[in-house]
Amino acid sequence: MINLVKGTHDVILDEAKKYEAVESVFRDLASLYGFKEFRTPILEHSELFQRSVGDSSDIVRKEMYTFLDKGERSLTLRPELTAGIMRSIVNNKLLALDEGPVKAFYLGPCFRYERPQAGRYRQFNQFGIEMVGINDIYRDVEVITFGYHALKVMGFENLTLKINTLGDKETREKYNRALKEYFSKHIDSMCGDCKERFNLNVLRILDCKIKEDQEIVKNAPKIQDYLSDNAKDRFERVLESLKELNIEYEVDQNLVRGLDYYSDVVFEFHYTSKKGVNYGAIGAGGHYSNLFRELGGNKDLEGCGVAFGIERIVSVLEDDGSLEKIKNSVNVYIMPSSDVTRSFASLLAKELRTNGASTDICYENKSMKSMLKKADKLSAIVGIILNDDLLKENKTIVKNLVTTEQEEVSTEHLLDRVFDILVSEIKKKEAEDHEHEEDCDCEECHHHHEE
Ligand code: HAM
Repeated sequence: MINLVKGTHDVILDEAKKYEAVESVFRDLASLYGFKEFRTPILEHSELFQRSVGDSSDIVRKEMYTFLDKGERSLTLRPELTAGIMRSIVNNKLLALDEGPVKAFYLGPCFRYERPQAGRYRQFNQFGIEMVGINDIYRDVEVITFGYHALKVMGFENLTLKINTLGDKETREKYNRALKEYFSKHIDSMCGDCKERFNLNVLRILDCKIKEDQEIVKNAPKIQDYLSDNAKDRFERVLESLKELNIEYEVDQNLVRGLDYYSDVVFEFHYTSKKGVNYGAIGAGGHYSNLFRELGGNKDLEGCGVAFGIERIVSVLEDDGSLEKIKNSVNVYIMPSSDVTRSFASLLAKELRTNGASTDICYENKSMKSMLKKADKLSAIVGIILNDDLLKENKTIVKNLVTTEQEEVSTEHLLDRVFDILVSEIKKKEAEDHEHEEDCDCEECHHHHEE
């Protein structure tokens, strides 16, 4: 028997369905936000990552699967996708005409030689989006909103969005000097990694996970005190805009991210499952300003993106028992009672799906009671009951499954009525979630009021 390579895993049978469920939430939402799919190669020239993710990052220094191919070229299995997307945008001259932004989404395997543990693999999958050719903070906010929205759709409740700014070039130069000065007094007692970081990129020390070092990091200068006016203004406007959108966040001044290409806003989504398992950040990203030029672009074009670890999301949702819900949820459930009504049901489902309502049909010969039970399991909002007698008169029964009210509706008005109910129930649900926050005393909502 030949075993799996350490840090890799099979996704098979029912497990694959779970992945599909999470991935389709991302894909659907990305289309809704106007992103288009990019499929770039898994193999890239090693130089791509050295120049983007950065020579001083742990990823490039220690974690890349790099090898010489038979033609003696140094190639690397991609550790992330942002660099490849940017390379593709430059190679294909997608921004040559200044028609920005390019809005790309992607899904696929990445490789990092890390120590395997819960939620940490050597081959894992990322879903991400990149928005390139931007200079407006509202684009950064759109990327964060996308991430927040996707995770909420999947049922993440107590999500923590940690956010920070790395400022602009001017900020980082000043801040680096301040950090160098501070850490030069402590570096002798710090870990070997920090000693290397001190020389390569002192900012990285803030990310050290070693307890004794963290004590020293606690008292290090804070970037907020070194922000240029411009960087400060940008960050404040991002926070302001998130507040307006009701997106909760926590400013974390030690959040520096493990990749070198960031400037200005950076962020991570954290979540601990109800059982208390923390799988690390489930998604992360930020703004970048030099990447386009660094990879051969001929102008200064900025971008912002976020990527999510699919394995981590599946694990957390599974721990919380929320996966069934996304896997199964539909807007409309059609319940026909005979072959005649079943053929009408197919036509109806086609209409509903074409108009964007996710729809399922019970084709199995089941009692009304068990069909309604199934509708509940699917978290359907509207049920459509079809029986021969009514259908002969061009009538159906539409049941609002949230309020349990039902009414006879003519086939002519069926689509309109179904969408009326869908829209009003979805709005009601949003209002309820919001009200809950206002009345509630729980820690999360309380935190939200204070902001
Ligand atoms: P990253 O923080 O290195 O950022 O990775 C993004 C996400 O990928 C992490 O939050 C985590 O969920 C997942 N991930 C990373 N390493 C592993 C692993 N070994 N096993 C399982 N999951 C993992 C980036 O990769 C950037 N390209 C994000 C970005 C996009 N920034 C701008 N645009």
